[in-house]
Amino acid sequence: MEALKGIRILDMTHVQAGPTGSQLMAWMGADVIKLEPPTGDITRVQLRDVPNADSLYFTMLNCNKRSITVNLKSDDGKQVFIELLKKCDVVMENFGPGVIERLGFPWEKVHEINPRAVMASIKGFGSSSPYANLKAYENVAQAMGGAMSTTGVPEGPPFVTGAQIGDTGTGLLLVIGILAALHHRNHTGQGQYVEVAMMDGVMNLCRVKFRDHQRLTRGALGEYTVPTHQGMGAAPRSGNDSGGGQLGNAVRCKPGGTNDFIYIVVQEAVWDALAKRISVELGLPGLVTDPKFATIDERRRNQADMWELIGELALKHDKREFMQILNELDVPCGPVMSTEDLFNDEHVKLRSMWVELDHPQRGKWWNVGMPIKLSNSPADIKRSPLLGEHTEEVLRQVLGYSDEKIAQLRQAGAFSASPKKAA
Ligand SMILES: CC(C)(COP(=O)(O)OP(=O)(O)OC[C@H]1O[C@@H](n2cnc3c(N)ncnc32)[C@H](O)[C@@H]1OP(=O)(O)O)[C@@H](O)C(=O)NCCC(=O)NCCS
Repeated sequence: MEALKGIRILDMTHVQAGPTGSQLMAWMGADVIKLEPPTGDITRVQLRDVPNADSLYFTMLNCNKRSITVNLKSDDGKQVFIELLKKCDVVMENFGPGVIERLGFPWEKVHEINPRAVMASIKGFGSSSPYANLKAYENVAQAMGGAMSTTGVPEGPPFVTGAQIGDTGTGLLLVIGILAALHHRNHTGQGQYVEVAMMDGVMNLCRVKFRDHQRLTRGALGEYTVPTHQGMGAAPRSGNDSGGGQLGNAVRCKPGGTNDFIYIVVQEAVWDALAKRISVELGLPGLVTDPKFATIDERRRNQADMWELIGELALKHDKREFMQILNELDVPCGPVMSTEDLFNDEHVKLRSMWVELDHPQRGKWWNVGMPIKLSNSPADIKRSPLLGEHTEEVLRQVLGYSDEKIAQLRQAGAFSASPKKAA
């Protein structure tokens, strides 16, 4: 049985941060009703690759949901929302600041309508923030949550990361909050409000950088290859340094292309074996007993030399071959995988992390699969819905509306965009 079977979610989320969370809940078996404005989630038409077809931006974040269109700016639309809310366990939204209040459904109102419902919101900064009135996108959160200032190299500009830590990262936190609130609701009968700010979500993912921020009050950070010193204040950008208890870095492999790199962690326990291999391949018999690398503290101090030697060895092998060599020595490592590498990777196939789907408008396409594997409730991934595909089905099945009532509401504009005012 699906783990979240019986949980119904009224999903007003849009763009990425919210939909990524509600998609995960749908994959765990919740009935997710995506309530869209009559014009649809904006991402349906953003970055389109097939004319007139829902974009991959939309399809990859909205699988296993049902779509209904409701005009929440019309009185009839608001009434449909209220009745749906009474039948749902969770309502989710990630509108900009003040939007849910303008629509007339802040948490207090939602709680009054359905005291058992959990309400879950993503905001850029959250209601108690001095930045509460600001909108936010992924890279705004990366900039303000500490990720950008610590990504890159000291002399270069700050960089964003390709992982969507502000959007998808925050969506995951929202799901955790919802599951906890549902558990609490099952004990108390009362729903509660779950709010996650993207800036907080990114800070949470940068925890070790705040560890280093505090360590800088006591001394330099020996594990970094970049200069650090007591009292320097901000944790530095440190390239590909591991920034952890074990030394790590990315080194270039043969034939030297953009993604011909491997990340290597020179764990304390594996140095001797690695040094032996380097000494044989590079003809350096003294390396194994070289006092410069004898202890982890010495290796920290002489990191640049150590990485140069490992780099020389790496250039003799391609990344897969070098991975194999390092695996035999029990050295933790990982080749840098491009999206193309991943598309063809055995792991990805075996763990269903690329899932082929069909879509009435775009034909065959692929989604990234379910990263959480539940032994009794495996995810069954289904395509995203067309805009309003399930409006009538939901009104009939969930609200028990008759054909006449649906027709009457349709006529009144409950499911369509308000007519433009005459100039
Ligand atoms: C992402 C974001 C910047 C997009 O901004 P935006 O495109 O201007 O969208 P907003 O959420 O501010 O506004 C949505 C509008 O659609 C309207 N709308 C939404 N659903 C509707 C519906 N079913 N019927 C009628 N109108 C609807 C809202 O009422 C609002 O209109 P208003 O401004 O006249 O009140 C903003 O939503 C935001 O900051 N969200 C919180 C942070 C977040 O999740 N960011 C991550 C994005 S991946």
